[in-house]
Amino acid sequence: MKRMLSGIKPTGRLTLGNYIGAIRNFVAYQDDYEMFVFIANMHAITVAQDKAELKKNTRDVIALYLACGLDPEKTTIFLQSDVHEHAELGWIMTCNSYMGELQRMTQYKDKTAKGETGITAGLFTYPSLMAADILLYDADYVPVGVDQKQHVELTRNLAERFNNRYGDTFTIPEPLVAKVGAKIYSLQDPTKKMSKSEDNPKGTIDLLDEPAVARKKIMSAVTDSLGIIQYEPEKQPGIANLLTILSSLNGEEIDHIVARYEGKGYGELKKEVGQAVFDFLTELQIKYHEIIKSGAAEKVIKEGNEKASYFAHKKLMKVKKKIGFQIF
Ligand code: TYM
Repeated sequence: MKRMLSGIKPTGRLTLGNYIGAIRNFVAYQDDYEMFVFIANMHAITVAQDKAELKKNTRDVIALYLACGLDPEKTTIFLQSDVHEHAELGWIMTCNSYMGELQRMTQYKDKTAKGETGITAGLFTYPSLMAADILLYDADYVPVGVDQKQHVELTRNLAERFNNRYGDTFTIPEPLVAKVGAKIYSLQDPTKKMSKSEDNPKGTIDLLDEPAVARKKIMSAVTDSLGIIQYEPEKQPGIANLLTILSSLNGEEIDHIVARYEGKGYGELKKEVGQAVFDFLTELQIKYHEIIKSGAAEKVIKEGNEKASYFAHKKLMKVKKKIGFQIF
């Protein structure tokens, strides 16, 4: 069985973008792949985090993974910082990465271009740690949204470089980016990614938003003045985004939705999308609250950590031997 791995940072609350671009696919793939899904809390601290919030957000990611349908019988769910091999291989990967290639990573480039101050060294070497996450488990595939594809491509280069230098060690992973929903856009600026860190909360739907509030956000989503419902992301990014959200939640082909809306107005489309989001969040949050109450998250993580550590340890030993760290 081919192996798959992915993770999400517990920075802020998870968004509908995280669900559609990532978690929904993890759930779909868990029957056919050996699946590893983790909480990337070591990546979270590349920007300053409040301790209490980080703890809450981390617990929430676990509970939301389970509420969205990840099954711990099928998927190994673990916490990155509890499997210390990530930090160790992360360092080795940092030493295997060139400054130039890290400088080309868009996340880092965007932050520096905006003139942000206080960029940490961790943020710069973030992709090297991400490579370690993936390579420790010999993942064949890495399901991610569009924004993370570049990091998986760097991982491939680092793995090939290591294999060439030290002999066959790592599986070369492939990014898996879904055809629909790999980038969900802000409801207020549909040319920008919907993101946990967006300044305008009206642009982002949090998975833990009150369903009625989320519906309102859809109703006030920015569209255009063309008045035609068609899937034209360049010309009508707002409408394309709403169509993508609906298709991802109800499983209907976008063409089919467009055909249903021939001659109809944006208000009607927004109403249907708003209702789909409302229903989705209502059901999800019922499960989330049950999971939080049951205390299931702790057991899932303990078992997941153990299983992940078993694989990570074996792999790291092999790497250490190859590079000359094991001397006796
Ligand atoms: P993160 O936490 O930013 O995002 C988690 C996943 O959600 C996807 N995503 C989106 N997809 C569609 N539309 C959006 N608006 C949207 N926003 C986020 C992301 O593409 C991602 O798949 N570096 C990673 C975490 C990570 C990781 C890894 C992932 C660390 N190590 C190893 C895979 C493998 C990150 O910051 O994702």
